[in-house]
Amino acid sequence: MLSSSTSPLHLALCCVTLLSLHFCAAVPTTKVGFGYRLVSIEENRNGGGLIGHLQLKQSTSAYGPDIPHLRLFVKHETKDRLRVHITDAEEGRWEVPYNLLPREQPPPLGSKASTTPFTASEYAGDELIFSYTSDPFTFAVKRKANEQTLFDSSCGTIVFKDQYLEISTHLPKTASLYGLGENTQPGGIRLRPSDPYTLYTTDISAINLNSDLYGSHPVYMDLRNEGGEAAAHAVLLLNSNGMDVLYTGTELTYKVIGGVLDFYFFAGPSPLAVVDQYTALIGRPAPMPYWALGFHQCRWGYKNLSVVEGVVEGYKKARIPLDVIWNDDDHMDAAKDFTLDPVNYPRPKLLDFLSRIHSQGMKYIVLIDPGIAVNSSYGVYQRGMAKDVFIKYEGKPYLAQVWPGPVYFPDYLNPNGVAWWVDEIARFHELVPVDGLWIDMNEASNFCTGKCELPANQSCPVPGSKTPWICCLDCKNITNTRWDDPPYKINASGSQAPLGSKTIATSATHYGGILEYNAHSLYGFSQAIATHEALQGLQGKRPFILSRSTFVGSGAYAAHWTGDNKGNWVNLRYSISTVLNFGLFGMPMVGSDICGFYPAPTEELCNRWIQLGAFYPFSRDHANFASPRQELYVWDSVAKSARNALGMRYKLLPYLYTLNYEAHTSGAPMARAVFFSFPNFTASYGLSTQFLLGSSVMVSPVLNKAKTKVKAMFPPGTWYNLFDMTKAVISKDERYITLDAPLNEINVHVYQNTILPMQRGGMISKEARATPFTLIVSFPFGAAEGDARGSVYVDDDERPEMKLVDGESSYIEFYASLREKTTVTVWSQVEMGRFSLQKGLLIEKVRVLGLKGSGQALVIEVDGEASADASGAYIAETSPMHQEKVEGGNSRSS
Ligand code: GLC
Repeated sequence: MLSSSTSPLHLALCCVTLLSLHFCAAVPTTKVGFGYRLVSIEENRNGGGLIGHLQLKQSTSAYGPDIPHLRLFVKHETKDRLRVHITDAEEGRWEVPYNLLPREQPPPLGSKASTTPFTASEYAGDELIFSYTSDPFTFAVKRKANEQTLFDSSCGTIVFKDQYLEISTHLPKTASLYGLGENTQPGGIRLRPSDPYTLYTTDISAINLNSDLYGSHPVYMDLRNEGGEAAAHAVLLLNSNGMDVLYTGTELTYKVIGGVLDFYFFAGPSPLAVVDQYTALIGRPAPMPYWALGFHQCRWGYKNLSVVEGVVEGYKKARIPLDVIWNDDDHMDAAKDFTLDPVNYPRPKLLDFLSRIHSQGMKYIVLIDPGIAVNSSYGVYQRGMAKDVFIKYEGKPYLAQVWPGPVYFPDYLNPNGVAWWVDEIARFHELVPVDGLWIDMNEASNFCTGKCELPANQSCPVPGSKTPWICCLDCKNITNTRWDDPPYKINASGSQAPLGSKTIATSATHYGGILEYNAHSLYGFSQAIATHEALQGLQGKRPFILSRSTFVGSGAYAAHWTGDNKGNWVNLRYSISTVLNFGLFGMPMVGSDICGFYPAPTEELCNRWIQLGAFYPFSRDHANFASPRQELYVWDSVAKSARNALGMRYKLLPYLYTLNYEAHTSGAPMARAVFFSFPNFTASYGLSTQFLLGSSVMVSPVLNKAKTKVKAMFPPGTWYNLFDMTKAVISKDERYITLDAPLNEINVHVYQNTILPMQRGGMISKEARATPFTLIVSFPFGAAEGDARGSVYVDDDERPEMKLVDGESSYIEFYASLREKTTVTVWSQVEMGRFSLQKGLLIEKVRVLGLKGSGQALVIEVDGEASADASGAYIAETSPMHQEKVEGGNSRSS
C-alpha cells in the first residue's frame, strides 16, 4: 500500500521572358530547348557523392547573361538527408557562410578529385533516390520505400544567371505544404496556391498580409496522404538572397536573385522525423532557462523605474504569475544602446530594484537595437570606430537612422565586430546585470533609404519630434548599381519595393567585401550568434535572447516573437500560424505580443489573448507606447482569465520544460500542428485555430468576438479537460464539437494514453518548480485495457547545456497500464536519477482518468508497491461526469 503523500520522482523556368509567371506544366521545356545539358557525371571517391558538369543549351534573354557551365554535386549526407548543390563551375559564388551555419563543404571547384564515371540513371541512398535526365538536365528525388516522387524539376527550366536563378518542381494534388516564412499567412498554416511567398528580411509590421516579414526561412514541409498512409518530407533551399516562391497547387517555382542552388531533402517520413532531420543540419533549438517559460511583461513606454516597480507590484497584488519584467528602450539615455537614463533609470536605484527581484527569482531583460548612435562622446561608438566594426558604403561607415537618430550598423560578419560586441555586452552587464537580451530592429530596420548625410541646417532627430521614425537625414536613392537595382524584382515589402528600401543600402559592404545584397537576410542571425557568444561567456549560464529577425539556424541561439501585431481579432488568430511555422523552422520558443502591440485591445480581446498566450511557448504581454496600459491586472476580468490560464501554465511548467528538452535534442516543436501527432487525420491538415503542446495537450482558444462557445476538432479518442478533469470529449471523427468557453475560460485537453507531469504551480517558476508533482494518467474512457506514457526532464538550468549529466539532470520516463478495467500499474524508468533525488523532487499524486464505473474495486500499483484502493495520495478518477456535444446535435452521453 502506498499511502505516503510523497514519493521519489523516480516513479519518479527563349527566352526566359517566359520567366516571370511561367509554370512548368504549360511549357514542357524538353521541347523548348533551353536549360542545361549534363555533359559528365562521376562518382567522387574521396568524400562520396556525385560530381556532374552542366553546359548551357541556349541563352535566355531576360535578367542578364546565363552562366555557361555549372557544377553539380549530389550527396546522401545521412541516411535520410540528400543534398543537391548547383553552382558556377568556373567561379566561386556567394553562399551562406560555412562558419555561420556549419555543414559539409562540397568539393572545391576544379579539384582533381579521384572520380570514376557514374553510369546509372539513379543514385540511391537509404531512404531517398536521386534520379536525373541528361538533356535537358532535370532531376527528381524519390522516396525509396514507395517510389513516390517528392521533387521533380522536369516541369520547368533550370535558369542560372548571376542575379537570377529559377527552378521548379511539380507537386501532386495530394501535397499539403507548410513553411516558407516569415509571412503572416492569413490563410492559415497550409500554404495557399497563388499566395505570394517572398523571403527577404523586412521590417514591415506583421499586420501586412502576404508579404515578406522579419525572417527568411526557405524551407517547406510536404505532408501527403496517399492510400491512407501519411508521409512527410521537407525541402530546404539554403540561400540567403531575396526570393519569390510561387506556388500554384501543382507546381512550385523558386525565383532567386543570387547565390547558389543548394537543396537539402529530408526524408521524414513523420513530421517529427522531418524536424529532427532538419534541425540536425541547421542546429538544434537553443535550450531555454526554466524561468523563460514563465510569464513575461513588457511595454514600450515604462517612463521610469517607479512605473516598472509598480507593474511588478500590480502583478503581485492581483496574484498573477510573473517571472520576467522587461524594458524596451525607455531605460536608455537618448535611445543609445548599453546606456542608462540617469534621471529616469538611475543606476543605484535600478541595481537595488534588480537585487530585490533577483532575490525572489524574478528576471530582467532589456532591448538593444543594432544601430549605434553616431555621437563622438559615446563610448560604444568610439570603441566601435576605433575597431572599425561598421558596415561600409563607398569606404565609410554606412549612415542610417533609427531611434537614437543617425546610426552606424555593426558588422557581425566581421570577427572584430563580434569581439567588440561581446566586449560591449560584458561592459553593459557590469553596469546592469541583465538576465537576457532582446535584439530588435535587426532586419536591419532603417528609417531612411539610400545614401544619407547629416542634414546641413537642422539636427536629427528634430528636437522634441513626436515622430522619431520619420527620416531626418538628407538621403538620395541609390539606383546606379546592379545590386541596388537588380534585373529581377522580388516582391519586396509586398510592392516590389527597392531592395534597399528602409534598410541598409544593397551595395553596402561587409567584412571581406561581402555585399549587403547577398548577406542582407543574415543580419539578425549573425547578431544573434554574436549576442549568444557574449552572454554565454558572461554568465556561464544558458543565454536567453529574443530576436525579431531570423534565418535558417537562428533557433539554435534565440527565441522569436511575431513582431508588431495589432490588437484585433484577426491578429489573435494569425498568431497561431506564425507560432506553428516557427516550430517547423527549428525555432520553437515563439509567441506573439499578448493583447496586441497596438493600438488598443478591448477588454474582451485581452481576455481571449491571455488565454491563448498562456499556451504560447514564449508568453509575453507587450505594447506600444501609444496604447493604453494593458498589463493583465488592468481589467478585473482579464486578471481572472490570467490567473486561470497562467495558473495552468505554471502547473504545466515541467511538461513545457520537458518539451524544450525534446526540442533541443530532437527539434520537436513545443507548439505543434495537430498533424504532428495524428498524421493520418487528414481533416487536421490545414487546422490553424487549434494546436498541440507537445504530443498530446490540445489548446482550443476562442478567436472570435462575443463568443462563449468554441467549435473544436479532435482526432478520435478521449480528450480530458485539464481544468475540469471530470469533463471529456470523446471524438469518433472529424466533426467539430461545440465546447463551452465562458469569458474567463479556455479549453485545454489532454489526450488518452498520456502521462502528464504537473506540479502545483505558483506565482513564479522558481517556486513552482520546487513543488511536488502530480502525474495525470489518461486512458481511453471506459476501456478495459490501455497503456499510457510520459516523461519529464529536470535540471537546475544553471549550466549552458541542456543534456543528461549525472548529478546535474535527470530524465524519467513513466509508463502505466490498465488491465481488466480496474488494475492500473504505474512504473518509471530513470536515467541519471541522482539529480532528482538530490533535489528531493517528489510525486504526491497519481490521478488516473478514464476508468468507468465508480465504486468498483480499484488497484493502483506504483513502482511495485500496491495501493488497495483509490484513496489517499493516489486519486483515481472514475467516470467523466459530462461529455461534450458533437456539432450537428449528435449528443454523446456516457
Ligand atoms: C519595434 C519592435 C517593438 C518595440 C519598438 C520600440 O517596433 O518590434 O516591439 O516596442 O520597436 O523599441
